[in-house]
Amino acid sequence: MAKTKRRYVCQACGGVSHRWQGQCPDCSEWNSLVEDTPASVFSMKHDLSSGGKKIQFVALDAPSEALERRSTGLAEFDRALGGGLVPGSAILMGGDPGIGKSTLLLQAAASISRNGQDVVYVSGEEAAGQVRMRAERLGHKDAPIQLASATSVRDILTTLNGMEPPALLVIDSIQTMHSDTIEGAPGTVSQVRGCAFELIRYAKESGVALILVGHVTKDGTIAGPRVLEHMVDVVMSFEGERSHQYRILRALKNRFGAVDEIGVFAMAGKGLEEVSNPSLLFLSGQEAPVAGSAIFPAIEGTRPVLIEIQALIVRLQSGATPRRAVVGWDSGRLAMLLAVLESRCGLNFSTAEVYLNVSGGYRLQDPAADLAVAAALVSALADKPLPTKSVWIGEISLAGEIRPVAHSGLRMREAAKLGFDKGFGPPDGDRDGSGITYENLSGLFKLVDRIVASS
Ligand code: TYD
Ligand code: MG
Repeated sequence: MAKTKRRYVCQACGGVSHRWQGQCPDCSEWNSLVEDTPASVFSMKHDLSSGGKKIQFVALDAPSEALERRSTGLAEFDRALGGGLVPGSAILMGGDPGIGKSTLLLQAAASISRNGQDVVYVSGEEAAGQVRMRAERLGHKDAPIQLASATSVRDILTTLNGMEPPALLVIDSIQTMHSDTIEGAPGTVSQVRGCAFELIRYAKESGVALILVGHVTKDGTIAGPRVLEHMVDVVMSFEGERSHQYRILRALKNRFGAVDEIGVFAMAGKGLEEVSNPSLLFLSGQEAPVAGSAIFPAIEGTRPVLIEIQALIVRLQSGATPRRAVVGWDSGRLAMLLAVLESRCGLNFSTAEVYLNVSGGYRLQDPAADLAVAAALVSALADKPLPTKSVWIGEISLAGEIRPVAHSGLRMREAAKLGFDKGFGPPDGDRDGSGITYENLSGLFKLVDRIVASS
């Protein structure tokens, strides 16, 4: 009797092993291997060099049609997409549960359908009645969306093939979809990959813009296979802290546009509201100066956004290992900054707990934030507030130098517009037209002097 070969597929990276292991040998994720039946084993005996159709070669300089884009009806969504939905493209929308993915897509679907284009919204998570209730809450009860609750990809594609292709097809979510040609429960790598493949093929052939909702695991990757990210044209992430109102829509990959623009929304009682001027959104709004708080003028795409960074230092009495906790910034980068402050400036954080928080639930990625973080840390350690109405920019090197950053003029001008009058940054920082009093900081020791000497 032929022995069927078992294989195990990593649910995080899609890597294949022939025996079960606690840790994936490819991506080092723990407990991610799941038994999988090989769909069809490729045989070397097949001769692929004949029997196929001739493919057509095209000249590189052949005139191409301009990329047509369709608006989602939400300017912030269009902005994050790089200008709107491209027909025939596949978009993966990731985000934590409850962050507002279904709400955003239902709002976009409603406004596209009100514009006279067909939209099909398939929910595998909620019954049609639940989606209808949400639409009512959003004020879109009468939008002409074609709504269905289904999980069988065969049923969905059979139905779609029997009708005019819609402008937009939303599948909420890909983890609930099921294909009867593939073994395994919905949500496993082979199911997710197989269902996505069929849906994407339909989108490419019919020119439908396809949005697949994907769940995000606790470490922030889209649940199930990362391979899904390679199959789609655009990967978007909908971020924010559930306890905060603000949500940020970001493209992590975009075959049709830049990935540096964000869309900003606020979750309100009637769904997501667009925030077209987010400059002041992430400030906590306190008037009295507080030690450990620094303002950083970030750039998101082409828009400046002012962000407050808060640090808290707690001295430990006992010899316990001190905690370092970070929300909204990279913990490795914090460890590096603390090490630089210790070795270059002689500050001592080794017996202190360090907490760092980026206010408003914002996730900061700009390296120009180093100086603002260092200023918040030194200010907290010295228990001295930073100068009022000041902003801080600069990247910090391991040698403790403060390095120039991109767009310093734009950052300073925006801060000046919003009432800030002091800027601190690297020596060649641009002050052009800002009207801000700019102070050069050549190294970290200067920063420490400046904060500790101030009163
Ligand atoms: P939802 O779109 O279901 O999230 P996801 O699809 O990403 O899991 O959003 C759910 C949350 O949004 C829920 O906690 C309630 C909140 N919400 C509002 O605050 N206002 C609203 O108008 C709606 C529709 C939802
Ligand atoms: Mg949902």
